[in-house]
Amino acid sequence: TILILDFGSQYSHLITRRCRELNVYAELMPCTQKMQDLNFKPKGIILSGSPYSVYDQDAPRVDPAVFDMGVPILGICYGLQEMAWNLKGKVTKCDHREYGFAQLQISMIGSGDEPADALFEGLGDEMQVWMSHGDQLSEMPENFHIIGKTKTAPYAAIAHNSKPFYGIQFHPEVTHSPRGKEVIGRFVLNICKCRANWTMEEFIGKEIARIRQICGPKGRVIGAVSGGVDSTVAAKLMHEAIGDRFHAIMVDNGVLRKNEAQQVHDMLNRDLGVNLTVVDASELFLSRLADVEDPEKKRKIIGNTFINVFEDEAAKIEAAAELEAAGGAAPKGKIEWLLQGTLYPDVIESISFKGPSATIKTHHNVGGLLKDMKLKLIEPLRELFKDEVRALGRLLSIPAPLVQRHPFPGPGLAIRILGPVTREQVKILQHADSIYIEEIRAAGLYEQISQAFAVLLPVKAVGVMGDKRTYEQVIALRAVQSEDFMTADWFVFPAEVLRRISSRITNEVEGINRVTYDISSKPPATVEWL
Ligand code: XMP
Repeated sequence: TILILDFGSQYSHLITRRCRELNVYAELMPCTQKMQDLNFKPKGIILSGSPYSVYDQDAPRVDPAVFDMGVPILGICYGLQEMAWNLKGKVTKCDHREYGFAQLQISMIGSGDEPADALFEGLGDEMQVWMSHGDQLSEMPENFHIIGKTKTAPYAAIAHNSKPFYGIQFHPEVTHSPRGKEVIGRFVLNICKCRANWTMEEFIGKEIARIRQICGPKGRVIGAVSGGVDSTVAAKLMHEAIGDRFHAIMVDNGVLRKNEAQQVHDMLNRDLGVNLTVVDASELFLSRLADVEDPEKKRKIIGNTFINVFEDEAAKIEAAAELEAAGGAAPKGKIEWLLQGTLYPDVIESISFKGPSATIKTHHNVGGLLKDMKLKLIEPLRELFKDEVRALGRLLSIPAPLVQRHPFPGPGLAIRILGPVTREQVKILQHADSIYIEEIRAAGLYEQISQAFAVLLPVKAVGVMGDKRTYEQVIALRAVQSEDFMTADWFVFPAEVLRRISSRITNEVEGINRVTYDISSKPPATVEWL
């Protein structure tokens, strides 16, 4: 395991991902983690970047014991500065904050044909790197030497003379440093000597054994499925582990995509054999949503109604089992566990040393279920990033189109209908959205886009059809590319694809006479409109 200590940089989770992509298990912990409290011995430690300056009063500080752990350490950006600060170097403010590309000159050991330092071994004598810092090292810490510099940063990369301690000012974890992943690879594989054995093949076996052990021979588990990648993969994994002792519930809340409930049923139950109940609660949801426009209210209503419906259904499943037992069937164990498809980014979000980040939108999940149901939580995906969940899904024979599916928010189309949510409005949006996605798939663009969807605007515009004037609603199309949805860029479509989508929507969807394309990035916009 590589331990990554997070000082609050927006890129910290990317360091973790890059290690995992190299098949090395890495765990992110807040920088305040005390070394004596660790319940494992890391093979190496990476100190992340940070928005702070080491001289700030409230600057996050690392436990000085990290430097006595006897394992290799790599400090990135602030991590370098924090290391230097601890080891008697000097850090000063740059004249200008440096942000962007730089050319790193790699110093060769000795001269002539000598190799570079182990951190840059085989990477040539120059590489493009990405910088983002306001402070930089101005005096070397004791017993360190330079292994790389840029025009503006004479100490852009340093190494200890005898210990495996390294510091780099640039960010190897971002894709703007094209060979950054190789630098991280040199550190975790060559310097820390980690074995590259973190693969989903190994994970499946271990996780199934772990689930069987926690649930015991009789324990029963329920869980909600949504049709998304995470809940589907989690459900299939549970099914592999404990078969029909896992019971999945899909709640049709009336604001799903077109034919979604049916498709989820066919795939999970018919094709994958998962024990599944689909509950059509659309009436209840839509009646509670009537006349509600405020997005946060919509989210609350959907979250709470979901809990009501799910609990009722779980009680029915329990009652049915009791009835069977009364009729002489072998008694089933009680439902003791609730499956949740929590992923590692959710875990990271809650471990930050600053506490969970500010809520911009309340993202609804089923966490609220636990309070009343007294169920224990089982979270088989909590160590995984999304790309790992997808790899796991492929190994579990989940069909490729589902594994690659764009995320879909819990409150569904209710937050994509900007005005009041009615059955008619849902139908219009479902239709437009399905055409949009169909055309994106037909153009072979689906996998280049991180998330695409249609939004139904509550405004009407004038149009003309045949020789009649129309006065109908407007659809906005959204498509973004994003690594983690914290930031996102709008997707540049070929014009003919947009033309085809627009023409199909205005021709085929009754009630729509105009289509617009959203060209806002996040920030300052968000991905969803509500
Ligand atoms: P925003 O709009 O916050 O979206 O930029 C970022 C990602 O989060 C999804 N999203 C939600 N997911 N419940 C969810 O489960 C929600 O209430 C919710 N709001 C936004 C959004 O689809 C995007 O992937």
